[in-house]
Amino acid sequence: MNYKRAIEELKRERKAVVLAHNYQVLQVQEVADFVGDSLELARLSAGVHAEIIVFAGVYFMAETAKILNPQKLVLLPEKDARCPMADMVDASKVRELRSMYPDAAFVAYVNTNADVKAEVDIVCTSANAVKVVNSLPQRRVVFLPDQNLAHWVSLNTNKEIIPYPGYCYVHRDFDPEAVARLKEENPDAEVIVHPESRPEVVKMADRVFSTSGMIKYVGQSPSKKFIVVTEEGLLERLRKLYPQKQILSPGMKGVCTDMKKISLRSVYLSLKELKYEVKVPEEIAQRARRAIEKMLEIT
Ligand code: 13P
Ligand code: SF4
Repeated sequence: MNYKRAIEELKRERKAVVLAHNYQVLQVQEVADFVGDSLELARLSAGVHAEIIVFAGVYFMAETAKILNPQKLVLLPEKDARCPMADMVDASKVRELRSMYPDAAFVAYVNTNADVKAEVDIVCTSANAVKVVNSLPQRRVVFLPDQNLAHWVSLNTNKEIIPYPGYCYVHRDFDPEAVARLKEENPDAEVIVHPESRPEVVKMADRVFSTSGMIKYVGQSPSKKFIVVTEEGLLERLRKLYPQKQILSPGMKGVCTDMKKISLRSVYLSLKELKYEVKVPEEIAQRARRAIEKMLEIT
């Protein structure tokens, strides 16, 4: 079956758009109307002209799109495509921390579920975390759930950052020694790292970016060689976009198995059978929307 053609036809018929995260397999990226990082996708979904949004990403991303589009049908092609880091914290934990740190601002990484977003002051993504934190009047900030992104923010602010002990297993597994070796073997390469990586790896970076920040930077930089520390889908995208540049990965492949659950076939079935619908109870959606919109206003 020619899934690509069938997807295009269904998109027209159903007035649907497909949004895909940068970590999706290339085939899925190719049928998407837009491919981007979490911030771009959230911003785009807030103004999208379509009746249906098919979100090729993980659950919290589709859920964010649904919160910003309560009247639209938002579909996640694989119901079990979730971000394990987002599932490391819940609303009751945030409430408990609130009572421990009553004077602190609470910032949730967009990689959280709606119940957590509903409990915090503001949301951020990897592209704007520093800007969001610096915009807050409080001196102390509880940052959750990613301890590594929290560490990166702490290096770029005068505020006191209280990290929550969550992490992304894909970025945690990049071995600092492998990065150091590759750097030594390729002194002419620029090292660009996603801020979900461990502090020892971030320390070796020439630049730290969100996924789309990496794409823009590699395109603009005069360098011909890059050591890129993030998930494999982004590396594939860089190799496709810039075949004249050498994209090196430190040792083992970093693969987000949840992002990779989505295939061309599941995008097709999602559009054909209108599954799996993302639903957010309005009471939670309302409070989560406020925290997401605050972020969109600042950046
Ligand atoms: P970006 O917002 O940088 O695309 O990151 C999302 C993510 O899940 C990274 O692991
Ligand atoms: Fe979550 Fe990490 Fe996968 Fe991103 S790469 S969706 S943070 S598990």
